Amino acid sequence: MFEVRCRIAAIVLACASTAALAQAGNADPLAVGRQMLAEDNPGELWVDHGKTLFYQKRGPKDASLEKCDFGLGAGQLVGAFARLPRYFADTDKVQDVESRLVTCMVELQGLDHEEIVRNRFSTLDRTSEVEALATFVASRSNGMKMDVRLSNPQEREMYKAGEYIFHRRNGPTDFACITCHGDDGKRIRLQDLPNMKDPKQMQAVVSGWPAYLGTKSTVLTMQSRLYECVWQMRLPDLGYVSDMSIALTTYLNYQGNGAVIRVPGVRR
Ligand code: HEC
Repeated sequence: MFEVRCRIAAIVLACASTAALAQAGNADPLAVGRQMLAEDNPGELWVDHGKTLFYQKRGPKDASLEKCDFGLGAGQLVGAFARLPRYFADTDKVQDVESRLVTCMVELQGLDHEEIVRNRFSTLDRTSEVEALATFVASRSNGMKMDVRLSNPQEREMYKAGEYIFHRRNGPTDFACITCHGDDGKRIRLQDLPNMKDPKQMQAVVSGWPAYLGTKSTVLTMQSRLYECVWQMRLPDLGYVSDMSIALTTYLNYQGNGAVIRVPGVRR
């Protein structure tokens, strides 16, 4: 039922934005489509779905996720995402929203780690539960500012690693993240590439993930965006909730501190 509703919403909105584009004659016609999607964002359906999953008793332990601690105390969701990634003493790891969700789904609900990882990304046919949950949890920080603090050595180490990886050219293309994301006005085909050296553009990026992707008719999280960029660089697949993915997210979110969170964002 959820899938069907999403598909219909996506089709209606895709048609509406195409019509607007035809009329717009605007300097940035793609922005018109994004604006229209944002006004009636199909991604809201993922927030609802994630909320249902969050409070449902599930898994072998028949538990909800209400005892999950995202850093502000068990079940304290408001503002928690704005401080992620951060260090968690129970796992002795710096974690982002998804890695923390995986921890709780395994520990509290007894769900299978391998299966969560297998279903980590949404596709046209299937909504990833962890992505819907991440969208719900992130949406509880809407209207608040990104506020990653790097207040302990593990967090600072992750940030440093992320900064290094972001600027390090490697692999068969000899690209770094900064090769595509370090100048104004760069694009690949029709896709504008944000200049992540510019704090304003960086804030616009981090304010809106997880995001509803018009081209994919689904919500995707930062983990899947980073996976795709690493794939574009022809590097080995980025491990789900791996240290490298958390390091990059720590770097990006800290650079985007001050961004007002509006999740789900809307992207191409
Ligand atoms: C070959 C060029 C290329 C490289 C290298 C690259 N990306 Fe990307 N990146 C893209 C494209 C294309 C998009 C999607 C833009 C769109 O669809 O509007 C994107 C989008 C993103 C976004 C979302 C931007 C937004 O508007 O919200 C983030 C975050 C990101 N990349 C991070 C990275 C990181 C981190 C790296 C290095 C690991 C990286 N990218 C390397 C091409 C690249």
